[in-house]
Amino acid sequence: MTRVELIRVYGGARLAGEVTVAGAKNSALKLMAAALLGPGRSVIENAPAITDITIMAEVLRRLGCRVALDGGTITIDTPETLAPEADYDLVRRLRASICVLGPLLARCGNARVAHPGGDAIGSRGLDMHVAGLSRMGAEIGSEHGFVVARADRLHGASIWLDFPSVGATENILMAAVLARGTTVIDNAAREPEIVDLATMLNAMGARVSGAGSSTLTVEGVEAMRPTHHRTVGDRIVAGTWAFGAVMTRGDVIVRGVRPGNLATALDKLTAAGATVADLSGTDTVPGFRVRMDRRPTAVDVVTLPYPGFATDMLPMAIGLGAVADGASLITENIFDGRFMFVNEMSRLGAEIRTDGHHAVVRGRDRLSGAPVRASDIRAGAGLAIAGLCAEGTTEVSHVHHIDRGYPDFVAQLRALGAKAERVTVPDEDLL
Ligand code: EPU
Repeated sequence: MTRVELIRVYGGARLAGEVTVAGAKNSALKLMAAALLGPGRSVIENAPAITDITIMAEVLRRLGCRVALDGGTITIDTPETLAPEADYDLVRRLRASICVLGPLLARCGNARVAHPGGDAIGSRGLDMHVAGLSRMGAEIGSEHGFVVARADRLHGASIWLDFPSVGATENILMAAVLARGTTVIDNAAREPEIVDLATMLNAMGARVSGAGSSTLTVEGVEAMRPTHHRTVGDRIVAGTWAFGAVMTRGDVIVRGVRPGNLATALDKLTAAGATVADLSGTDTVPGFRVRMDRRPTAVDVVTLPYPGFATDMLPMAIGLGAVADGASLITENIFDGRFMFVNEMSRLGAEIRTDGHHAVVRGRDRLSGAPVRASDIRAGAGLAIAGLCAEGTTEVSHVHHIDRGYPDFVAQLRALGAKAERVTVPDEDLL
């Protein structure tokens, strides 16, 4: 009989205490790809212990690297000659592995990376990755389910992105560092993870300026060297705990992340009635404290590229709306399928109506515990946090999604005073 894992949370908790957040998944994965650019040993510190990192390590091994994962430290030995192909099996399990395309093309002059397809938050195109690399002289197309790219030596180019795509910015940036001449990427993504990547690339010998603004300028260099780098803290995990604190009327200190990196989210929590204090000035480790002593007031949220409200926090915004006083209008602008998890939130008694990319959420004083299914990383975490505000128990299935992005999720919930556990049940017990 097959058995599956669930996360069971008991309602009625108040999150209180201190939690330290590790490095950002969405940075560490790209930093690992960046290590491909400099032959020799690169070390990435403060990486999160999550399954996506394990899969990315395997992607790099198949390309010829030696990779060791030891707690938060990733050691990557990159050979002089890389294998230029990332196979379907791994890319299917980790869409982010498309970010090896740029570095492989720059290092090998050709690359074959399986087409990653979409996932449970919607279709996710590659047109901007392709257009940018083509502008730099790559011949790029699709063959037998692979993205295939060739270029003897990429050259600098002026590239305007239709939308500040995180993945396209990263792929083009990593290709441009070894191109001949200067590349300018306009309407580039401005996420803290892009700044982190540019910082590592510069430590490897690249010449990137403007990271954190909409215009990145990259002067190509002949060769890159390996480096040691510490991953920026995970603002989405930090935000998850911050929303959890407010939804449960708690008091949480979050360490390891600069509050400025999630300012829009923390502003919403302040508007909902919480008190947010920046602890970065007083301590060596950056962090912040979130306190709430009453039922949150409903707030409207619009997701946008950074510095706007992060789409990855949308399930938390819906969870907040579900227990807030009043109605919230939540607008999703990044992924067409981000509302797919809303049915599961409704199982907890949340009153949500969606229309296109808008959702109206009418708050209730208490939700009602139920079995629910995680459809992606953030939906899983959002459902578990909402379960803390529900009467009775909530069992979240498909926990492998949560494991992809949240290190020690249950342990951190418990450290903050929640009653939660991982349980294994026979398959047929599931809905
Ligand atoms: N898009 C295109 N064409 C492109 C590239 C993107 O149409 O060539 C579209 C996508 O379909 C999507 C939108 O543009 O609708 C935004 O995509 P973007 O490229 O910015 O996102 P991504 O690089 O695929 C990263 C994170 C996501 C996060 C988004 C937005 C990683 C591994 N993933 O995805 O994180 O939601 O940026 O901030 O960095 C997660 O961690 O759970 C997650 C989904």
